[in-house]
Parts: sequence; structure tokens; C-alpha cells
Amino acid sequence: MKAIVYTKYGSPDVLQFKDVEKPSPKDDEILVKVCAASINAYDWHFMTADIFLIRVMGVGLFKPKNTRLGADVAGRVEAVGRNARQFHPGDEVFGDMAGHGNGSFAEYVSAPESVFALKPANLSFDEAAAVPMAGVTALQGLRDEGQIQPGQKVLINGASGGVGTFAVQIAKSFGAEVTAVCSTRNVEQARSLGADQVIDYTREDFTQSGQHYDLILAANGYHSLSAYKRALTPKGLYVMAGGSQAQIFEAMLLGLLMSKASGKKMGGVSAKPNQEDLVFMKGLLEAGKVVPVIERRYPLSKTAEALRYLGEGHARGKIVIHVEDRV
Ligand SMILES: NC(=O)c1ccc[n+]([C@@H]2O[C@H](COP(=O)([O-])OP(=O)(O)OC[C@H]3O[C@@H](n4cnc5c(N)ncnc54)[C@H](OP(=O)(O)O)[C@@H]3O)[C@@H](O)[C@H]2O)c1
Repeated sequence: MKAIVYTKYGSPDVLQFKDVEKPSPKDDEILVKVCAASINAYDWHFMTADIFLIRVMGVGLFKPKNTRLGADVAGRVEAVGRNARQFHPGDEVFGDMAGHGNGSFAEYVSAPESVFALKPANLSFDEAAAVPMAGVTALQGLRDEGQIQPGQKVLINGASGGVGTFAVQIAKSFGAEVTAVCSTRNVEQARSLGADQVIDYTREDFTQSGQHYDLILAANGYHSLSAYKRALTPKGLYVMAGGSQAQIFEAMLLGLLMSKASGKKMGGVSAKPNQEDLVFMKGLLEAGKVVPVIERRYPLSKTAEALRYLGEGHARGKIVIHVEDRV
């Protein structure tokens, strides 16, 4: 089968489109014919090892131990392992291969059943592939770490990317009053996703406005931890999902200390892919409460181009790898 393979860290130039062995499902696995995959910053970090921690976390100090990339996937079940009970050949599924060998930039994947859920019936494969990592990160950031409640004032910083476009819609579905922060060209998109207020970060710094929020999800950009704290209500919560490296490390290193000192919880979300949350997202998607935003689609052979575009840092919503032409 065709797949994207890399044997050294670097720019998208390190990616090769080549023939590899088609996987066969182990006893608890299902073999899925990939119809679509989608790109995440996660893939960028695995490809470049730009965050040094990635190398020491077992991904490979000098070169990648696992030569395959791609987490988000949607496709059709082709075969099931001996002990796999949940899915049957022909089922349409979506999932997140992070923690299970990655490899969704390929014509087939094989992974445990728990990686997948049935694809939302109203979504194309491209749309379904856009959901797992970004959607579940937004969900866990708002619901689990952020303890979101109806009527709360919630701000999403970085509301126009993969995580942010899901976060705006998920926060609305929980009954929050949502403020989206993005650049000028994405203001209309944020409104159309349901944001009650939109702040253009090129014109206004929300941390200086005097407004206070019960919950802030930081998906992109950068503000210091003390600036975020200033924008929170007295019992407000700050949840860092991503953004600049400084934003990530400040939350990891200083969040706990600042929480103890201020009584405002300043922490982060580290998304844990799981079937239950995929099913939760399926419910929101089928109810029309959440709609994936896809800016661009690339064929599998052009995955390097897709990653190059994501790496520029201004993708709107999701970038999809369209693998099977018939769908
Ligand atoms: N914690 C976890 O478990 C987890 C899971 C998934 C992702 N992440 C992290 O979450 C972050 C966001 O992921 P993503 O998929 O949303 O990335 P993305 O799709 O690549 O984000 C691109 C978006 O970021 C916006 N942006 C760029 N600079 C900004 C700024 N200064 N202020 C506000 N928005 C800005 C861009 O909008 P403009 O063009 O308008 O600037 C663009 O729409 C990444 O750092 C990723 O590594 C973490």
C-alpha cells in the first residue's frame, strides 16, 4: 500500500510517499481502509521534533523510532481481528491513532477497536477525519479541565484553527456565552460558528480590556500567565491547550504555583483520545451542534505540502488528506 514515511526529523521535505507493507489486524484490532486523514500540529511536532521534549519522551533522540505519521483517520472497516467484537467489515468509522503507532497518512491502518467509533452518519469521510484530535482536545479542555457551565462567559484564544473552531461550537453547545479571539480575516468565520462576541487580536488585546471571563481556553497565540489571570473572574479557570512554546511552558511550569497563590485555577489540557469522547462528539455532530471547518484538502501524495501549509501557522479550521478517490 502507499503511505507517508519519514526516517529523519526535519521540514516536510523529509516525508516520502512510498510503498510499505499493508498491515494485518492483530486479535483485538480492526483493519480500516483509509478514506481520509487530517493534519494536526501533533504531526508537525513528530516530524520536526521542534519541541525537544518529544525526543526524550521515547519518540527517538536523533531520529524517529516510528517512521509513520498521522493520527486522525476516517474510513471503512475491511477486516476484524479474532477478538474484535464491536465493528464489522463495511462499518464506517473515525478515530485517533495517537498512542497506537500513528500511521493514518496511508491507504490502510490497523489499530485496537477502542481507537474508533462509528462515523457520524451525516458527515463525509473528509469531515469525520477532521474531528478526532482537535474536537476531543477542545471537549476535554472545556468540559473536563474547564468544568464549563451554562451561562458562563467563556473566551477562546486562537478561535480560528483546528482546536479553536471546535471549541467555539462546543462551548456554545454547553450553553456558554462565547467570546472568540482571532485575526481580522477570521472574524466572520467565528461569528458564523456561533461566537457571541469576536475580538480581533490585531486591533485589541483582550487581557487589557477590563473584561473578565469564567473560563479561558488558550488554543493559540501567546499571552503571559499573569495577563490571562488578570482576565479571569475571581474563581475563573484558565486551560492551556497549545499556542506558542512560551505559552505551553509557562502553563506547565508556573500554572500550579500561580493557582495556589491566586485561587484561580491555571492549568492545561493534555488530550486523552478515547472512544467515549468520540461518541460524545458524534452526538454533537449528528445533532448539528458542531460542524467541522475544513479549509483545504490534499491527496495523500501531497501530504508534505499540507504539512508545510499547517506549519505556516494560519490554517483556518482543519486541513484534510483525502485518501480514497471514490468518496
Ligand atoms: N494539549 C493537547 O492535548 C493538544 C491537542 C491538540 C492540539 N494541541 C495544540 O493546540 C494548538 C492549536 O492547535 P490547532 O490544531 O488549533 O492549530 P492550528 O489549526 O494550526 O492553528 C492555526 C490557527 O491559529 C491562529 N493563530 C495564529 N496565531 C495566533 C495568535 N497570535 N492569536 C490567536 N490565534 C492565532 C491562526 O489564525 P490567524 O491566521 O487568524 O492568526 C490559525 O487559524 C497547537 O499548539 C497544538 O499543538 C494541543
